[in-house]
Amino acid sequence: MEQNITDQELQKKAETLLKKMTLDQKIGQMTQTERMSITPAEVKEFHIGSVLSGGGSCPGENRPKDWVDMNDAYWAASMEADENHLAIPLIYGVDAIHGHNNVIGATIFPHNIGLGAANDPELLERIAKVTAREILATGVEWTFAPTLAVARNNQWGRTYESYSEDPEIVQSYAGRFVKGLQGDMGVDSVVGCVKHWVGDGGTTYGIDQGDTRGNDEELSRIHIAPYYPALAEGVLTVMASFNSWNGDKCHGHRYLLTDVLKNELEFEGFIISDWDGIDYLSESYYEAVGWSTNAGIDMFMVSDKWREFIAHLKSHVQNGTVPIERIDDAVRRILYVKLKYGLFEKPRPADRYWSNHDSFGSKEHREVARESVRKSLVLLKNENDILPLKKNARILVAGKNADDCGHQCGGFTVAWQGVSDSKTIGREFIESGVSFDYGSANAAVQKGTIEGGTSIWEGIKAVAPNAVLNLDGSVADSDEHDVGIVVVGETPYAEGLGDIRAGDNTIVEMGSMIKGLMKVLAPYGHSLILNELHPEDLRAIKNITDKGIPVVVVLVSGRTLIIEKELEASSAFVAAWLPGSEGQGVSDVLFGDSDFQGKLSFTWQKKVGENFLRGDEHYEPLFPYGYGLSYNKQV
Ligand code: GLC
Repeated sequence: MEQNITDQELQKKAETLLKKMTLDQKIGQMTQTERMSITPAEVKEFHIGSVLSGGGSCPGENRPKDWVDMNDAYWAASMEADENHLAIPLIYGVDAIHGHNNVIGATIFPHNIGLGAANDPELLERIAKVTAREILATGVEWTFAPTLAVARNNQWGRTYESYSEDPEIVQSYAGRFVKGLQGDMGVDSVVGCVKHWVGDGGTTYGIDQGDTRGNDEELSRIHIAPYYPALAEGVLTVMASFNSWNGDKCHGHRYLLTDVLKNELEFEGFIISDWDGIDYLSESYYEAVGWSTNAGIDMFMVSDKWREFIAHLKSHVQNGTVPIERIDDAVRRILYVKLKYGLFEKPRPADRYWSNHDSFGSKEHREVARESVRKSLVLLKNENDILPLKKNARILVAGKNADDCGHQCGGFTVAWQGVSDSKTIGREFIESGVSFDYGSANAAVQKGTIEGGTSIWEGIKAVAPNAVLNLDGSVADSDEHDVGIVVVGETPYAEGLGDIRAGDNTIVEMGSMIKGLMKVLAPYGHSLILNELHPEDLRAIKNITDKGIPVVVVLVSGRTLIIEKELEASSAFVAAWLPGSEGQGVSDVLFGDSDFQGKLSFTWQKKVGENFLRGDEHYEPLFPYGYGLSYNKQV
C-alpha cells in the first residue's frame, strides 16, 4: 500500500488513470481469464486486468518457483507500456481456501467446518496470516477466501466450506480472517475476497447453485450478517454467488449487488463474478454480459471465452445498452483496489520479499495447522473412558481414511476435486490380496501427492510403537490387539459433485434451470447415511468388534452424516471433519497430550430427512449445536 496515503488521494489517482484509458483498456481491466487460456503477450494486447487459477490449475511442476515464474511473466507483460498499452499491474487470483491448497508442499489447514468447531477467532487470524505468507511465496496477490456461507442443509456439496449453520461463528471469523489476509496492506498482505454474495448456503435441498428462498429479514439475519465485519475490516473484493434469491440469479441481481452491497453497505472494492457465473442469466451470452454488468458486476471471471466477453461488452457500450458511467465505476473500483493494495509500487513477483521464501510449508506453519486440527476435533462418545488411549497399547488401525493424506484434506486440494494419496492401499492389497470395496463414491478420486504432512496413521505410529495398520481390519485378533482405531468417512469432492440428492432431485444442475445450459452432475450419493455411502466402513469396524476388541471410530468427512450403525458399534466416536495435511493433530488428542475442545458448529441429525437447525422451536437432533465431550469433565 502507498504508505499513509488517504483513500481520497487513492481515489484521485484512480480517477487520473481512468481518464487516460481507452474503452479497450477499461474493458480489459474488467476481464479475468484462466491461466490455461491466455499468454502474457495476450494479457498485454488485450489489457487484461487479472488471471486466475481454477481449482487444480497449476503451472509446471506445481512448486512455488513455477507459480512465481508464471505470474512474473503475466505481471511483466501487463507493465510493458507502449503507445497502445498503459502499465496497470495484473492481479493473480487463486482459491487458497484452507492454505494455499493447490500447491504441492503447502500447509493444508482443516476445512472451514472443522475450524467452526474450534470456535477460536484468534486462531483464524493466525491461519490467514500463514496462508497469506504461503500465497506470497508463490508470487500470487489475491485469494478467493474466506467463504462466508452459512450452510443450512448438509446435502450441499460445499457444506465443508462453511464454518457453521448459524451466522454467529461465521461473523466472529469473517473480520479476523480478512485482517489476517489483508493486514495493513503491507509486504505481508494479500487481497481477500468474501464469498459467495449472497445466500449460497441456503438453497432448497442444499442444491449447489440452486435457489435460496425466504424474506429479506431471513436473508439479512442469516446470510448477509457475516459480511458486516468483513466489510468493516475493509475487504477489497466480493464474489457474486451462483445461487438465485427467490428465483432471481445473484449474478444479475441489481438490488443485491448494487443497491444493498455497494450503496447501502458502502462497499468500495469490486465485485467479481464466479466462474462463468454470468452464463446462466440467459441463453444469449450477449444479453448475459449486458445484464450482469448493469446489475453491478465489476470484474468478470470468464474462464476461456474472454475474447467473446470483451467483444460483447464493447458492443453494449457502443450500442448504449451499458452506459460508460457503469464501465467507469467498475474500472475505478478495480484501480482503487490495486492502488489500495500497493500493487503499482510492488516489484515484479520474482523480486518480491516473500517470493520463493523457505517458510512455505515450514514446520512453524505446520504447527499452526496441527494446533487447528487438535482444536477442531469433536468427541461425540467415550464409553468407559476408553479415550485417551495408552501409547503402549496394542492398537489395530484400520479404515480407508487412516493412511490417505488426500482423503483427510478433502476437495480443493492439489486438484479441484481433491486426491487420493494413500501410502498403503496399493502395497497392502497386493500383499494381503484383500480387495477393498470403496463403494461408488471413491471411484472418481484421482491419485495425487500431499507432500510434507502426516496421515492420521503416521501420527499414531509416531507415538504408539505397538500400533499396526490393516485397512479392512481383517487381521483383528483379541490375543494381539487391545483396541482398534478405525478411520472412516467420505472421499474427496468439491461443489456440485459433493451434493447428496434423494428422490426426484437426483440431478444436480450446474448454474441454472435454463434449458441447454444445464450441466448434469452425478451427485456424491443419494442419502446422508454413512453405511449406504460407504458400507466398507462398518465392515472394517465389525471385523474388529466381532473379535471382542473395542473400537474408536474417527470420522473424516465434509459434513455431519447419519451414523447410527457406526456409532452403535463404537466405544468412542470422534468427528475429525477434513483435518488437512497435519494428521498428527488427531493423535495428539487421542493419546491425551491435548484435551478435546471442539464443539459442534453444525447440528448432528439423527435420521434421514431431518434438518434441525440451531434456534428451531422443535429441535431433537442426535447431537445438538455446541455439543462436544472432553477428558476434563469440567469443560
Ligand atoms: C468455483 C467456485 C468459487 C471459486 C471459483 C474459482 O466455481 O464457486 O468458490 O472461487 O470457481 O475457482
